[in-house]
Amino acid sequence: MFTEGQLYSPVTTHEDGTVEVHLADTHPGRDDAQYLQRRGEIAGAALAWDRGNVPVPTIVYTPQEHAVWSRVSHELAPLHARFAHREYLEAKERLGLPTGHVPQLAEVSERLLPLTGWSYVCAPGLVPLRDFYADLGGRTFNSTQYLRHGAEPLYTPEPDIIHEVIGHANQLASPRLAAITEAAGRASLRLETDEAMKLVADVFWFSIEFGVMYDGDDLKAYGAGILSSYGEIQEFADMEIRDLDLADMGTLNYDITAYQPVLFAARSMTHLEDVVGDFFATVDDDAAAALRVEAGRRGLLPL
Ligand code: TRP
Ligand code: FE
Repeated sequence: MFTEGQLYSPVTTHEDGTVEVHLADTHPGRDDAQYLQRRGEIAGAALAWDRGNVPVPTIVYTPQEHAVWSRVSHELAPLHARFAHREYLEAKERLGLPTGHVPQLAEVSERLLPLTGWSYVCAPGLVPLRDFYADLGGRTFNSTQYLRHGAEPLYTPEPDIIHEVIGHANQLASPRLAAITEAAGRASLRLETDEAMKLVADVFWFSIEFGVMYDGDDLKAYGAGILSSYGEIQEFADMEIRDLDLADMGTLNYDITAYQPVLFAARSMTHLEDVVGDFFATVDDDAAAALRVEAGRRGLLPL
């Protein structure tokens, strides 16, 4: 079940204007004073950004930060070739992100705009669920700008710019995957109840974030959360794979800080569009409520 507020570390601003990021006890950067200070600086830049009036702030990345980006990019390259769905691989090729240094979000937008009309804006961390989705509906992706801690680059429990850009921007360079993402955003604008919103966010979790899909007989990944982790991408094929099932996807409990043990497979891009794309394109409060009733009837709703 999706719980708002857990995904990203909370950020607070002190009276002297300094920004503090509160990392979980299990975060690898928890006791690294330099990392904590840096996280505060980068979150501060996003908080100070005057949205709509000035360009997204440029972050001057350190050699260590560029090294983390470069390390993850190079670890992921052969794993993408092996395990990523063709739809993502072709989009990644067209987007042509740098692998040796962290790109600025403005550069990500410059590359994406002509391909699918999407742009990137900066976020200090958590963006309220409704705002995040409303922006998706306008082809705008809220992205963090910090990097995961260099001590554990293969998987981070907290999304960072590597996830947002290597995972999502490559995905959003596919017109078909971008259209599904946009439809989820537009759905949020139609939904009044929190239950319906949560259902959409949960279907999103098991598709755009952690979706897998057949390419012929081979099971591949297209979900951004799998494609940004060189740990998880090597394990998804061994997880429990279920058929696409909206009632199941919309109600299954999940732990947001661990490899996903249950994944939902689309048989093809068309299958994904027919089931998940159509759901996002048409869902309203009544349809969401009906899906929850169906889940209950089938014994899927957690007690
Ligand atoms: N585990 C992802 C990575 O290492 C990042 C991530 C953390 C994430 N939490 C997430 C991705 C939730 C999607 C959804 O790149
Ligand atoms: Fe994500």
